[in-house]
Amino acid sequence: MYKIIEKNFLAENIVMFKIKAPMVAKSAKPGQFVIVRIDEKGERIPLTICDYDRSLGTVSIVVQVVGASTCKMAKLNQGDYILDFAGPLGNASEFVNLNEEELKNKKYLFVAGGVGAAPIYPQVKYLRQLGVYCDVIIGARSKELVILKEDIEKLGCRVYISTDDGSLGIRGRVTDLVKKLVEEGNTYDEVVAIGPVVMMKFVSMLTKELNIKTTVSLNSIMVDGTGMCGACRVTVGGQTKFTCTDGPEFDGHLVDYDEVIKRQNMFRDEEVRRMHHTSE
Ligand code: FES
Repeated sequence: MYKIIEKNFLAENIVMFKIKAPMVAKSAKPGQFVIVRIDEKGERIPLTICDYDRSLGTVSIVVQVVGASTCKMAKLNQGDYILDFAGPLGNASEFVNLNEEELKNKKYLFVAGGVGAAPIYPQVKYLRQLGVYCDVIIGARSKELVILKEDIEKLGCRVYISTDDGSLGIRGRVTDLVKKLVEEGNTYDEVVAIGPVVMMKFVSMLTKELNIKTTVSLNSIMVDGTGMCGACRVTVGGQTKFTCTDGPEFDGHLVDYDEVIKRQNMFRDEEVRRMHHTSE
Protein backbone atom coordinates (compact mmCIF):
# COMPACT_ATOMS: atom_id res chain seq x y z
CA MET A 1 0.00 0.00 0.00
CA TYR A 2 1.21 3.51 -0.81
CA LYS A 3 0.47 6.39 1.52
CA ILE A 4 -0.66 9.82 0.37
CA ILE A 5 1.70 12.20 2.14
CA GLU A 6 0.26 15.41 0.74
CA LYS A 7 -2.70 16.56 -1.33
CA ASN A 8 -3.01 19.97 -2.96
CA PHE A 9 -5.56 21.40 -5.35
CA LEU A 10 -3.69 23.13 -8.19
CA ALA A 11 -6.94 24.22 -9.83
CA GLU A 12 -10.53 23.13 -9.90
CA ASN A 13 -10.49 19.42 -10.77
CA ILE A 14 -6.69 19.27 -10.84
CA VAL A 15 -5.08 17.68 -7.79
CA MET A 16 -1.47 17.02 -6.92
CA PHE A 17 -0.69 14.03 -4.71
CA LYS A 18 2.65 13.32 -3.10
CA ILE A 19 2.94 9.58 -2.56
CA LYS A 20 5.42 7.66 -0.44
CA ALA A 21 6.93 5.24 -2.97
CA PRO A 22 10.70 4.93 -2.35
CA MET A 23 11.38 2.33 -5.03
CA VAL A 24 9.68 4.40 -7.73
CA ALA A 25 11.38 7.59 -6.53
CA LYS A 26 14.76 5.85 -6.63
CA SER A 27 14.69 5.16 -10.36
CA ALA A 28 12.23 7.74 -11.75
CA LYS A 29 13.39 9.84 -14.68
CA PRO A 30 11.74 12.76 -16.48
CA GLY A 31 9.25 11.61 -19.10
CA GLN A 32 8.20 8.43 -17.32
CA PHE A 33 4.85 7.48 -15.82
CA VAL A 34 3.31 5.28 -13.15
CA ILE A 35 0.20 3.11 -13.14
CA VAL A 36 -2.05 3.71 -10.18
CA ARG A 37 -4.86 1.49 -8.93
CA ILE A 38 -6.82 2.83 -5.99
CA ASP A 39 -8.33 -0.47 -4.75
CA GLU A 40 -9.17 -3.99 -5.93
CA LYS A 41 -12.12 -2.77 -7.93
CA GLY A 42 -10.25 0.20 -9.38
CA GLU A 43 -9.10 0.63 -12.94
CA ARG A 44 -5.46 1.12 -13.78
CA ILE A 45 -4.75 4.82 -14.29
CA PRO A 46 -1.50 5.83 -16.05
CA LEU A 47 -0.22 9.16 -14.70
CA THR A 48 2.95 10.97 -15.62
CA ILE A 49 5.45 11.65 -12.88
CA CYS A 50 5.48 15.33 -11.97
CA ASP A 51 8.27 15.27 -9.43
CA TYR A 52 10.30 12.89 -7.30
CA ASP A 53 12.49 13.18 -4.25
CA ARG A 54 14.92 10.30 -3.93
CA SER A 55 16.00 11.23 -0.38
CA LEU A 56 12.41 11.41 0.96
CA GLY A 57 11.24 8.51 -1.21
CA THR A 58 8.27 10.47 -2.57
CA VAL A 59 6.76 10.81 -6.01
CA SER A 60 4.32 13.55 -7.06
CA ILE A 61 1.57 12.98 -9.57
CA VAL A 62 -1.07 15.32 -10.91
CA VAL A 63 -4.58 14.05 -11.50
CA GLN A 64 -7.10 15.85 -13.65
CA VAL A 65 -10.66 14.67 -13.26
CA VAL A 66 -11.61 13.46 -16.70
CA GLY A 67 -13.54 10.30 -15.97
CA ALA A 68 -14.93 7.95 -13.35
CA SER A 69 -11.57 6.64 -12.04
CA THR A 70 -9.83 10.01 -11.81
CA CYS A 71 -12.94 11.41 -10.12
CA LYS A 72 -12.69 8.69 -7.46
CA MET A 73 -8.97 9.29 -7.06
CA ALA A 74 -9.38 13.04 -6.60
CA LYS A 75 -11.57 12.34 -3.57
CA LEU A 76 -8.74 10.61 -1.69
CA ASN A 77 -7.08 12.58 1.11
CA GLN A 78 -3.77 12.94 2.87
CA GLY A 79 -3.22 9.82 5.01
CA ASP A 80 -5.23 7.55 2.67
CA TYR A 81 -3.60 4.65 0.90
CA ILE A 82 -3.42 3.58 -2.75
CA LEU A 83 -3.30 -0.13 -3.54
CA ASP A 84 -0.90 -0.09 -6.53
CA PHE A 85 1.67 2.44 -7.61
CA ALA A 86 3.68 0.68 -10.30
CA GLY A 87 6.59 2.28 -12.08
CA PRO A 88 8.51 4.04 -13.30
CA LEU A 89 7.24 2.96 -16.74
CA GLY A 90 7.81 4.14 -20.30
CA ASN A 91 10.95 5.61 -21.75
CA ALA A 92 12.67 8.57 -20.18
CA SER A 93 12.98 11.79 -22.19
CA GLU A 94 15.62 11.54 -24.90
CA PHE A 95 17.83 14.26 -23.38
CA VAL A 96 18.44 12.06 -20.32
CA ASN A 97 20.81 10.07 -22.57
CA LEU A 98 22.89 13.13 -23.43
CA ASN A 99 25.92 13.96 -21.34
CA GLU A 100 26.59 17.35 -19.79
CA GLU A 101 28.94 18.32 -22.59
CA GLU A 102 26.28 17.55 -25.24
CA LEU A 103 23.61 19.45 -23.31
CA LYS A 104 25.75 22.43 -22.34
CA ASN A 105 24.98 24.77 -25.23
CA LYS A 106 21.49 23.58 -26.05
CA LYS A 107 18.41 25.76 -25.75
CA TYR A 108 15.03 24.20 -25.08
CA LEU A 109 11.56 25.63 -25.43
CA PHE A 110 8.89 23.77 -23.44
CA VAL A 111 5.26 24.26 -24.40
CA ALA A 112 2.64 23.04 -21.93
CA GLY A 113 -1.08 22.99 -22.48
CA GLY A 114 -3.20 22.89 -19.32
CA VAL A 115 -2.27 19.94 -17.15
CA GLY A 116 0.68 19.29 -19.52
CA ALA A 117 2.63 21.59 -17.19
CA ALA A 118 2.88 18.62 -14.81
CA PRO A 119 5.00 16.32 -17.03
CA ILE A 120 6.99 19.34 -18.23
CA TYR A 121 8.04 20.23 -14.68
CA PRO A 122 10.47 17.30 -14.02
CA GLN A 123 11.99 17.75 -17.48
CA VAL A 124 12.73 21.43 -16.95
CA LYS A 125 13.97 20.69 -13.43
CA TYR A 126 16.37 18.03 -14.71
CA LEU A 127 17.78 20.30 -17.41
CA ARG A 128 18.01 23.37 -15.19
CA GLN A 129 19.95 21.38 -12.58
CA LEU A 130 22.52 20.80 -15.32
CA GLY A 131 22.46 24.51 -16.17
CA VAL A 132 20.70 24.05 -19.52
CA TYR A 133 18.80 27.05 -20.91
CA CYS A 134 15.01 26.56 -20.98
CA ASP A 135 12.11 28.86 -21.83
CA VAL A 136 8.63 27.70 -20.94
CA ILE A 137 5.21 28.53 -22.38
CA ILE A 138 2.08 27.55 -20.49
CA GLY A 139 -1.30 27.83 -22.15
CA ALA A 140 -4.70 27.38 -20.54
CA ARG A 141 -8.32 28.35 -21.02
CA SER A 142 -8.15 30.89 -18.18
CA LYS A 143 -5.94 32.13 -15.33
CA GLU A 144 -7.44 29.67 -12.82
CA LEU A 145 -6.28 26.73 -14.93
CA VAL A 146 -2.64 27.79 -15.22
CA ILE A 147 -0.74 25.39 -12.96
CA LEU A 148 2.84 25.19 -11.65
CA LYS A 149 3.83 28.62 -13.02
CA GLU A 150 5.67 29.71 -9.87
CA ASP A 151 7.28 26.30 -9.37
CA ILE A 152 8.68 26.41 -12.90
CA GLU A 153 9.84 30.02 -12.49
CA LYS A 154 11.71 28.96 -9.35
CA LEU A 155 13.78 26.63 -11.54
CA GLY A 156 15.26 29.74 -13.13
CA CYS A 157 13.58 30.03 -16.48
CA ARG A 158 11.36 32.54 -18.21
CA VAL A 159 7.72 31.50 -18.23
CA TYR A 160 5.29 32.91 -20.81
CA ILE A 161 1.55 32.52 -20.44
CA SER A 162 -1.29 32.48 -22.93
CA THR A 163 -4.96 32.14 -22.01
CA ASP A 164 -7.99 31.81 -24.25
CA ASP A 165 -9.81 34.59 -22.39
CA GLY A 166 -6.79 36.84 -21.79
CA SER A 167 -7.16 36.62 -17.97
CA LEU A 168 -3.41 35.96 -17.68
CA GLY A 169 -0.55 36.56 -20.12
CA ILE A 170 -1.46 37.14 -23.74
CA ARG A 171 -4.92 36.41 -25.06
CA GLY A 172 -4.37 33.71 -27.62
CA ARG A 173 -2.74 30.35 -28.20
CA VAL A 174 0.59 28.87 -27.25
CA THR A 175 1.51 28.89 -30.93
CA ASP A 176 1.21 32.71 -30.92
CA LEU A 177 3.87 32.79 -28.21
CA VAL A 178 6.15 30.32 -30.01
CA LYS A 179 5.95 32.52 -33.10
CA LYS A 180 6.55 35.68 -31.08
CA LEU A 181 9.62 34.29 -29.29
CA VAL A 182 11.18 33.15 -32.55
CA GLU A 183 10.37 36.46 -34.27
CA GLU A 184 12.06 38.26 -31.39
CA GLY A 185 15.23 36.43 -32.29
CA ASN A 186 15.22 33.55 -29.81
CA THR A 187 16.62 30.34 -31.20
CA TYR A 188 15.94 26.85 -29.90
CA ASP A 189 17.52 23.48 -30.56
CA GLU A 190 14.39 21.66 -29.51
CA VAL A 191 10.76 22.26 -28.63
CA VAL A 192 9.05 19.89 -26.20
CA ALA A 193 5.26 20.13 -26.34
CA ILE A 194 2.94 18.37 -23.91
CA GLY A 195 -0.79 18.94 -23.66
CA PRO A 196 -3.99 18.28 -25.58
CA VAL A 197 -3.39 16.42 -28.84
CA VAL A 198 -4.79 19.29 -30.91
CA MET A 199 -2.32 21.68 -29.28
CA MET A 200 0.62 19.35 -29.96
CA LYS A 201 -0.54 19.04 -33.58
CA PHE A 202 -0.52 22.80 -34.13
CA VAL A 203 2.75 23.34 -32.29
CA SER A 204 4.34 20.62 -34.44
CA MET A 205 2.98 22.13 -37.66
CA LEU A 206 4.49 25.47 -36.71
CA THR A 207 7.87 24.13 -35.60
CA LYS A 208 8.09 22.11 -38.80
CA GLU A 209 7.80 25.38 -40.72
CA LEU A 210 10.36 26.93 -38.38
CA ASN A 211 12.59 23.90 -38.75
CA ILE A 212 12.93 23.18 -35.01
CA LYS A 213 13.19 19.59 -33.78
CA THR A 214 10.08 18.83 -31.73
CA THR A 215 9.22 16.17 -29.19
CA VAL A 216 5.67 15.52 -28.02
CA SER A 217 4.42 13.34 -25.19
CA LEU A 218 1.26 11.43 -25.93
CA ASN A 219 0.73 10.46 -22.28
CA SER A 220 -2.80 11.86 -22.36
CA ILE A 221 -4.00 9.18 -24.78
CA MET A 222 -3.04 6.21 -22.60
CA VAL A 223 -5.87 4.28 -21.00
CA ASP A 224 -4.54 1.24 -19.14
CA GLY A 225 -0.83 1.78 -19.75
CA THR A 226 -0.12 -1.92 -20.22
CA GLY A 227 0.15 -2.39 -23.99
CA MET A 228 -3.08 -4.42 -23.92
CA CYS A 229 -6.02 -2.11 -24.60
CA GLY A 230 -4.75 -0.62 -27.86
CA ALA A 231 -6.10 2.82 -26.99
CA CYS A 232 -2.69 4.43 -27.27
CA ARG A 233 -1.89 3.06 -30.72
CA VAL A 234 -0.45 5.76 -32.92
CA THR A 235 1.16 5.97 -36.33
CA VAL A 236 4.57 7.63 -36.21
CA GLY A 237 6.42 8.08 -39.49
CA GLY A 238 4.19 5.41 -41.07
CA GLN A 239 4.90 2.85 -38.34
CA THR A 240 2.48 1.63 -35.70
CA LYS A 241 3.61 2.44 -32.16
CA PHE A 242 2.11 2.07 -28.70
CA THR A 243 2.47 5.14 -26.54
CA CYS A 244 2.73 3.20 -23.27
CA THR A 245 5.44 0.82 -24.41
CA ASP A 246 7.24 2.65 -27.25
CA GLY A 247 6.75 6.19 -25.85
CA PRO A 248 5.30 8.22 -24.35
CA GLU A 249 7.51 10.69 -26.27
CA PHE A 250 7.75 10.79 -30.05
CA ASP A 251 9.04 12.99 -32.85
CA GLY A 252 6.28 15.59 -33.09
CA HIS A 253 6.76 16.02 -36.83
CA LEU A 254 6.03 12.37 -37.55
CA VAL A 255 2.89 11.71 -35.48
CA ASP A 256 -0.44 11.16 -37.27
CA TYR A 257 -2.47 13.42 -34.96
CA ASP A 258 -5.75 13.14 -36.85
CA GLU A 259 -5.82 9.40 -36.23
CA VAL A 260 -5.22 9.97 -32.49
CA ILE A 261 -7.92 12.65 -32.26
CA LYS A 262 -10.45 10.35 -33.95
CA ARG A 263 -9.78 7.53 -31.48
CA GLN A 264 -9.79 9.87 -28.47
CA ASN A 265 -13.27 11.12 -29.40
CA MET A 266 -14.47 7.52 -29.43
CA PHE A 267 -13.11 6.89 -25.92
CA ARG A 268 -14.42 10.22 -24.61
CA ASP A 269 -18.00 9.34 -25.56
CA GLU A 270 -17.66 6.05 -23.69
CA GLU A 271 -16.14 7.76 -20.62
CA VAL A 272 -18.95 10.34 -20.46
CA ARG A 273 -21.44 7.50 -20.54
CA ARG A 274 -19.64 5.78 -17.63
CA MET A 275 -19.31 9.03 -15.62
CA HIS A 276 -23.06 9.46 -15.79
CA HIS A 277 -23.55 5.86 -14.86
CA THR A 278 -21.32 6.09 -11.72
CA SER A 279 -22.88 9.34 -10.54
CA GLU A 280 -26.39 7.90 -10.72
FE1 FES B 1 -3.49 0.57 -23.42
FE2 FES B 1 -1.16 1.50 -24.29
S1 FES B 1 -2.51 2.40 -22.91
S2 FES B 1 -2.18 -0.28 -24.92
